[in-house]
This record gives sequence, C-alpha cells and structure tokens, in this order.
Amino acid sequence: MYKRKDTFYTKAKQEGYRSRAAYKLLELGGAEKVVARGDFVVDAGAAPGGWSQVLLRLVGKKGKVAAVDILPMDPLPGENFRFFLRDVTDPALPAEIVAFLGRRADAVVSDAAPNTTGIPFTDQARSADLVRAVLSLAGQTLRQGGTFLAKIFEGAEAEDVVRELRASFGEVRRIRPAATRKESFELYLLARKYRGN
Ligand SMILES: C[S@@+](CC[C@H](N)C(=O)[O-])C[C@H]1O[C@@H](n2cnc3c(N)ncnc32)[C@H](O)[C@@H]1O
Repeated sequence: MYKRKDTFYTKAKQEGYRSRAAYKLLELGGAEKVVARGDFVVDAGAAPGGWSQVLLRLVGKKGKVAAVDILPMDPLPGENFRFFLRDVTDPALPAEIVAFLGRRADAVVSDAAPNTTGIPFTDQARSADLVRAVLSLAGQTLRQGGTFLAKIFEGAEAEDVVRELRASFGEVRRIRPAATRKESFELYLLARKYRGN
C-alpha cells in the first residue's frame, strides 16, 4: 500500500498542478531536456492534465501542446493548447493533430496507462501494447530527429519494446524518475533522434 497523500501529492495541490505525475515530467523535462522552448508536443494519455500544464510552461507561448485522452479533462488556457477526446488508436487522430500543430511534433510524450488487472503478465502486456499504439501515433505525427517518451510497466515485454524503439530511434534509455513511487513497477522509455518514416 502506498500513502495516497504523499509529499508529491501535497506539493502538487499547493503548486496548482492537477497531478503528482507532473513532477515526473518536471524532473525529466529539466534533467533530460525532453522538450525545449518553442517545441510542438503531443501529450498522450493527458487527463487530468498535470503533464499538459508542465509542457505548456516548458514550451512557452511559441510552443504548442496537443493533448489526447479517452477521459475528458478540464480545459487549459491558450490558443497553443488543444485537447482531443480520443483513443490514441483513433485512425483520424494523427491528421487532426498535425493540422492543429501546423507541422509534425518535436516530441511525443505518453503517461498513458492501461486499466490494470493485478495480474502482472496481463498488465505488462497491456502497457506494452499501449506504448506500441502511441509509437504508431508518433509514426504519423513525430518529425525526423524528434523525441519519444513513454511510461511502461517493467518486464520482458518492456524489453521487447526497447528493441522495437531501437529500430526507429538513434538513442533509447530507461529512466525511473525520483517522483515515481518506490513500490511502482513503472519506468519511462526515452528515445531520441527519430529516424522518420
Ligand atoms: C496516469 S494518467 C495520466 C496523468 C497525466 N499525465 C497527468 O499528469 O495528469 C493515464 C491516462 O491514460 C489514459 N489512457 C489510457 N488508455 C488510453 C488510450 N488508449 N487512449 C487515450 N488515453 C488513454 C487514461 O484515460 C488516463 O487518463
């Protein structure tokens, strides 16, 4: 059992972020420079919007954020933000995202998580399939040279996904942000230098 109202949860409440997950991206955004000022970014699995808040701050007014989730989310201000109430696998989605951005994105980030069953094998497989779905979305929305970041549950399937990413990106790393709960099996895959398609 984890303490629901831990330090990061309290900090998020105090600092106006919609999720404690925001701190994972702040950490990766800072230390790993996942996004830069002026970048155009796709935020997959965005609700309730903590990552989108952080992304908007990191990219600034000249950047753009296209957020996607199957669950609704309260709006965020700015012409440079748009929320798509969609499944990441929706075939119409990539064209709509690129139309909003005006070009392909510099980064596709995903904190999307499947509904879990408690059966590790099943949950790992679902998580890996979700990352593959976001990777397929990235195939149609990410520019050559761009960055991909996705949450995945640790396990053999995650290693398969690392190999798949290596086929399309020049650099692939596994990262566990400090803001991740100690008992969590989550990790993030950070892939850079997209070779394009
Ligand atoms: C951990 S939450 C994301 C939290 C978010 N990064 C934040 O900081 O507020 C995971 C989200 O992934 C979404 N999700 C799961 N499967 C999805 C799919 N196939 N398409 C779009 N969103 C999905 C869920 O609805 C959920 O809102």
